[in-house]
Amino acid sequence: MSSTVYYNPSPPADNGGARAAAVIVSLLILLVIAVVSCYCARKARKAIVSELRAAVAPPPLPSATIQVWEVDAPTMEKFFLELAREKPVRFTAQQLFTFTDNYSTLLGRGGFGRVYKGKFPNGVHIAVKVLNRDANRSIEDQFMAEVGTIGRTHHINLVRLYGFCYDQFMSALVYEFMSNGSLDKHLFGEDRELEWEKLHAIAIGTARGIAYLHEECQQRIIHYDIKPGNVLLDSDFSPKVADFGLAKLCNRDDTHVTVTGCRGTLGYLAPEFMLKNFPITYKCDVYSFGILLFEIVGRRRNAGGGGGGGGDEESLDWFPKKVWEEYERGELMALVESCEIEERDRVKAERSAKVALWCVQDSPETRPPMSAVVKMLEGGVEVMPPPKPFHYLFSVGTDVLRRPNASINESSEYSSDNSYWYKETTPIMSQYEIQVASS
Ligand SMILES: Nc1ncnc2c1ncn2[C@@H]1O[C@H](COP(=O)(O)OP(=O)(O)OP(=O)(O)O)[C@@H](O)[C@H]1O
Ligand SMILES: [Mg+2]
Repeated sequence: MSSTVYYNPSPPADNGGARAAAVIVSLLILLVIAVVSCYCARKARKAIVSELRAAVAPPPLPSATIQVWEVDAPTMEKFFLELAREKPVRFTAQQLFTFTDNYSTLLGRGGFGRVYKGKFPNGVHIAVKVLNRDANRSIEDQFMAEVGTIGRTHHINLVRLYGFCYDQFMSALVYEFMSNGSLDKHLFGEDRELEWEKLHAIAIGTARGIAYLHEECQQRIIHYDIKPGNVLLDSDFSPKVADFGLAKLCNRDDTHVTVTGCRGTLGYLAPEFMLKNFPITYKCDVYSFGILLFEIVGRRRNAGGGGGGGGDEESLDWFPKKVWEEYERGELMALVESCEIEERDRVKAERSAKVALWCVQDSPETRPPMSAVVKMLEGGVEVMPPPKPFHYLFSVGTDVLRRPNASINESSEYSSDNSYWYKETTPIMSQYEIQVASS
């Protein structure tokens, strides 16, 4: 008889438990190592990022106005959202400092302050106007209200306001950049390459911009400072009126205006500004536009030296007065010819001169509204003969600015009845006795 002994390969139950415990412990150790190394890596990355940011950050400003700001995606996203909603964006002083590269490119200076070239982080060019601070008027709410009005006023012939800055130390306005600068440089400067035809189109565009401010936008805006320096030209030389709404926002410095209490630039100022207690209406812009039109026809400055200088209305050589004298003698076309305007443009130039004579009428009521000026310049109507202007040069008194004998229906100024200034016919239509049907 034999007995067989069998070997059982499975380990005893106690051994298995020890192995499982070993595996769990090793896993736990690995997990702890992973967590610790992740933490260390994040800390190191944070240190590198803040070092890099410090290296590219702009140098600190001397004043204490700086707020912490970065050109980050959410900021720009918010900005474009506001723009889409057609609301002006509020910028900080440091943002403007960065946009203008420390105010390194000065575009010019005027009665309200200095203008600098700048660029948004997305590459859009801007013009930043840093306003002279007026101690009496620096009330934040009022500033915001006015900027809100300007920022919501959009028209193809008005310079767009992108945003503003208002803090304890500075106020500034951020405008779209107009690459061909202001009209005065092209009219009177060295660079007189613009053809008369283009200048005429610029006059019509400018008139449309002012007509919008006076007659179409929600709240009427009187510009008070229409002049070639405030007509800016884009890359196609299309005109846009600049600085509307500024007269309400802040006072100008003393270099531009020497008559106490006046707004605007001498030489372009309507006569009513010279008289105390005479109401100043939107028609003061029509007068200034008339002077601008004379400057386009004559291609010469009528406002003695512009900017700070006084007007030279009393000089014998004053072009607007000469235009009236030649018109009275029936020699307006001869005067236009003497202005070196090419033959093809002379009819338009003669018409512009006539419209200018209407715009500079002494009595504000006798001046046409800007919508009528647009129509007359466009040439689809027959311009009525203007009465004599410039009486105020010889007799200063309110009587001169009162309504003339001919009656103008004041209430119908914005209606279609502008028959005091023009007839709804063209010279050709009247030649053939064609009349426009009345409704
Ligand atoms: N949006 C803009 N784009 C390009 N250039 C501009 C812009 N705004 C102003 N400028 C330039 O800056 C200069 C100064 O403008 P500013 O409006 O301060 O003075 P001004 O028009 O001569 O006088 P005012 O104070 O009566 O308006 C102008 O000559 C103009 O060419
Ligand atoms: Mg200006």
